[in-house]
Amino acid sequence: MPRRFYITTAIDYVNGRPHLGHAYEKVLADAIARFHRQRGDATYFLTGTDEHGQKIARAAEEAGQEPQAFVDEMSQTFIAAWKALGVAYDQFIRTSDKRHELAVQELLRRLSLAHTPRTGEPAIYEGEYVGLYCEGCEGFKNEKELDAKGRCPEHRKKPKEIKESNFFFRLSEYDEALLRHIAAHPDFIQPDHRRTEVVNLIKSGLEDVSVSRPNLTWGVPLPEEIEGGKGHTVYVWPDALLNYLSALGWPQRAYCKWWLAKEGETGGPGSARQDEFQDLDGHGRPGAAWAGTGQPLYTNGFHLIGKDISRFHCVLWPAMLLAAGVPLPRQVYVHGFILLRKPEAPGADGTGAQVKMSKSVGNVVDPVAMAARFGADALRFYLLDAIPTGGDGEFSLELFAEHFNTWLANKLGNLSSRTVKLVHNAYAGATPPEWAPDAFTDPAVRVAFDALVAAATSAADEVPKAYDGLRLHEALASAWQAVERANEFVDRARPWDLAKDPARRAELGTALNALLETLRLVAIWAWPAIPAKCEELWGVLGLPGAPGEQRGDAARPAFGAPAGRTLGAPVILFPRLDLKAAGARPGSKAK
Ligand code: MSP
Repeated sequence: MPRRFYITTAIDYVNGRPHLGHAYEKVLADAIARFHRQRGDATYFLTGTDEHGQKIARAAEEAGQEPQAFVDEMSQTFIAAWKALGVAYDQFIRTSDKRHELAVQELLRRLSLAHTPRTGEPAIYEGEYVGLYCEGCEGFKNEKELDAKGRCPEHRKKPKEIKESNFFFRLSEYDEALLRHIAAHPDFIQPDHRRTEVVNLIKSGLEDVSVSRPNLTWGVPLPEEIEGGKGHTVYVWPDALLNYLSALGWPQRAYCKWWLAKEGETGGPGSARQDEFQDLDGHGRPGAAWAGTGQPLYTNGFHLIGKDISRFHCVLWPAMLLAAGVPLPRQVYVHGFILLRKPEAPGADGTGAQVKMSKSVGNVVDPVAMAARFGADALRFYLLDAIPTGGDGEFSLELFAEHFNTWLANKLGNLSSRTVKLVHNAYAGATPPEWAPDAFTDPAVRVAFDALVAAATSAADEVPKAYDGLRLHEALASAWQAVERANEFVDRARPWDLAKDPARRAELGTALNALLETLRLVAIWAWPAIPAKCEELWGVLGLPGAPGEQRGDAARPAFGAPAGRTLGAPVILFPRLDLKAAGARPGSKAK
């Protein structure tokens, strides 16, 4: 049965240009989406920009521009950045799109008609907010969340005291429903330790949250039907979160195509069956699509987000969806942060500790400059291979260069250039016709050969398992096991010596075919992470089609003499980096 995979990223604030932290998330999502496409899942990948709110309005004002003109310009810098990094999304949503704004109003309308699960009170009510607001987070704060100096720990600024009339969402009544859902669907929040954090947060008590604020001009007006709502603007978080649905056409039923799946059709892990929604009915609700079919209902949305915004995604978003009668997403996966250490972190506190890369700290690295200087795939490989998926990862030019030289230049690059050169020298660029592993008489060569075949065979199982389980660094590590065994085999078999002796042609041809097959497999396995380089390698190997199209048996080892083909000219896929010779650093301040 063909599977369906709907993946989203957080949508970035456009008050500054994209930095490496934003890029990390988009590259991670892209590699996951590519893996799903490669294995044949119907895949839809959504990203975009978050363009409303006070923070953006202020940035526009500082730039001397009208908000719309400002966000039009800034969103282009994100679109250009993802293009430069090979991020192949299906849709780029902007929250200032009219269609999205209309959907946000519909969400508020539905919330205003909903009643809470515990007391049956209206889910939305008008009240007064007296408290603190951090513009950087676009979030309401309580004293507990501030540092010793009374500042937001993330933005290092004191939140503003505000007193204003707000519409509130009665989040405090959704704790039991959320805990029940999380207990019934342990994969809903991943990795596990993030789920524990969220569960503790819910158990510590939830407060009602604002869903509208008065006197803000840059945002979506509350729908007129909501009494007393005139002059109110929807708070930026409900607005932003809805992008995951509005992009699919919600409240039209078309959204079900990606948001929901039939039995066996979901493209990822998780006990996504949600029978509690079986009897839902009405506009945009799945009951209508499922009514009378007797089919169990599965949900399919997969949200990839950073740990600073897990509260909004794991508490507020599902509670709003419960209130609006929309099935919850299948999974929220919380990734870690890109951190910098001094001296890369000018905002660091002098302890040499790592700090998060962010515009407010002022320590951002420009991913587009990095890609222009070192290649998009070099950067993608660092982000996906050097940082264990789900954890934090440090970035510095030195770490990046060392990682590049070790794994790309010295291992994969070296393997491909020596293999291709040997085939050109010994076989005029045609694939060798020989396949005779028994011809290896030296036991050490035979052992190295067997180790290579074993590593390739086990990687064929491990790589997809690791990608599927969102352990991308492990997928790449398995693939590189085969690369390492291949390099060891070359060192043992010494094909350049075999090439000098016409009597050892069977050994030479067998050795080169084993290496060519390993390279073919690695081009397939590494493609989700470093697509452009794998496509280049594929071309050099003279293979038909593309590595992104290989699935089933085509993605499994087929050691032997291949159908004859001609290789392309040898290329140096990953020229060694020498930072001292290369000069200036690529870091740059955000706008
Ligand atoms: N606009 C909100 C998200 C709304 S989603 C409905 C927002 N924007 S953001 O621009 O501040 O961050 C966008 C994403 O980038 C978030 O998932 C955030 O965690 C991630 N990152 C921002 N800086 C980061 C690092 N230094 N490292 C890794 N990812 C981090 O929050």
